Amino acid sequence: MGRFDGKVAIVTGAASGIGRATGKAFAAEGASVVLADVNEAGLVEVEKEIKAAGGKCISVRVDVRSPEDVDNMVSRTMEAFGAVHILVNNAGVGQFMPFHCLSEEDWDVVMDVNAKGIFLCSRAVVPIMIDQNYGRIVNVTSIMGEVAAIAQSVYNASKGAAKMLTQGMARDLAEFNILVNAVAPGMVETGLTRSTFADEAQRKWFEERIPLGRVGQPEDIAPAILFLASDDARYITGATLKVDGGMTCAAG
Ligand SMILES: NC(=O)c1ccc[n+]([C@@H]2O[C@H](COP(=O)([O-])OP(=O)(O)OC[C@H]3O[C@@H](n4cnc5c(N)ncnc54)[C@H](O)[C@@H]3O)[C@@H](O)[C@H]2O)c1
Repeated sequence: MGRFDGKVAIVTGAASGIGRATGKAFAAEGASVVLADVNEAGLVEVEKEIKAAGGKCISVRVDVRSPEDVDNMVSRTMEAFGAVHILVNNAGVGQFMPFHCLSEEDWDVVMDVNAKGIFLCSRAVVPIMIDQNYGRIVNVTSIMGEVAAIAQSVYNASKGAAKMLTQGMARDLAEFNILVNAVAPGMVETGLTRSTFADEAQRKWFEERIPLGRVGQPEDIAPAILFLASDDARYITGATLKVDGGMTCAAG
């Protein structure tokens, strides 16, 4: 018996990093998984890995900024599995440059993927979740939605927006038994951070500031997402769970 037997979970940004680990973890625990991403080549690989391990999944190309793509993702999910119990809004992009160098386009891309994408994907599944009187939405924010860091102002803004959207959605959707929470990862080794950690000096700088003494791996984040999507978290809504090796708990 898996914790998610009979459940249908959509994971955006599932072609790599945290989304990939999350999609695989849901499938390993019995969920039917919809892997959604713009990166079709990555989706093919993850789908193969899940199926080879005996899991159930489909993959759908989606740009979370596009309402048409998002509607197609939900239609494909309903055709394949007939329900949507869990949505993990994980797709995200970074834009790391000083505030005074940012263009309007930089602002739009980061805000559209990291914040509006959550709105569009959630809006598309919520009517189904209301009909089911059951839903679990987990938004992947960041510790950069809690504290600022150099050259991350638009990323900070997008993750702060995602955090407050989590709380607003949690308030409005509680009466329908739809629980909305966030996981805020710290420094995790993925496509987003590859260039940072390829530099040994930068890696060491971060390791020295993380009380647990190492940068995170996607497999460190997925269990927290699964917890918030599970019935063990049945009395938690509107929360942001930091999963950062202690990085933001102390000043030194
Ligand atoms: N890696 C970290 O240190 C870290 C820290 C905090 C938060 N996060 C957040 O975790 C989430 C996952 O990032 P990751 O670190 O696994 O990076 P990643 O680059 O490995 O994965 C992000 C995925 O999102 C997909 N994506 C990007 N834009 C998209 C769009 N418009 N539509 C659909 N898919 C899109 C990418 O193709 C990619 O597969 C992001 O929201 C990111 O902001 C990451």
